[in-house]
Amino acid sequence: MKLFITLLMGLFFVGSAFAQTAAPVSKGKQIFTEKKCITCHTIESEGIAKKSPTAKMIGPDLSAVGADAKPGFIAKFLAKETDLHGKKHMGTFKGTDDEQKTLVSYLESLKGKKEVKDAKAKK
Ligand code: HEC
Repeated sequence: MKLFITLLMGLFFVGSAFAQTAAPVSKGKQIFTEKKCITCHTIESEGIAKKSPTAKMIGPDLSAVGADAKPGFIAKFLAKETDLHGKKHMGTFKGTDDEQKTLVSYLESLKGKKEVKDAKAKK
C-alpha cells in the first residue's frame, strides 16, 4: 500500500511539473489582454486582432517581436528603462514582477512573422 501511495504521489508531481511548464505562454497571453496592451497592439499570429474597426491601434503588431527584439530589450522597454526610436514606451505595465516576467517570456516566444519574412527573402 505504501508503495502504491508513493507511486501515486510521484505521478502527481510529474503531472504538476508538466502543467507548470505548459502554463506560462497561455498565461502571458492572458496578461497581455488583461493589462490593456490590446488597446494599442495586435498579435495577429496569436489571433489577437483589432477589437473594433474604430479603436485606435497605434502600436505595432507584435507577432514577431520575439524574433526582432534584442535579448533583454522587451523587459527593459516595458519597465521604461530603455527607448525605442528615441522614445520611451507609451504603454504602462501595471502588475507584479512575476506577471511582467511571464508577459516578457510570452512576447519573446512570438516569432510569428519571421517565417513569412524568411520565406519572402528566399524568393
Ligand atoms: C497607449 C498605447 C500603447 C499601449 C497601451 C501599449 N503599447 Fe506597446 N507600444 C506602443 C507604441 C506606439 C509602440 C511603438 C514605439 C516605436 O516603435 O517607437 C509600442 C511598442 C511596443 C513594443 C516594442 C515593439 C518592437 O518593435 O520592438 C513592445 C514589446 C510593446 N509595445 C509591448 C506592449 C505591452 C506588453 C503592453 C501592455 C503592458 C503595451 N505594449 C501597451 C503603444 C502602446
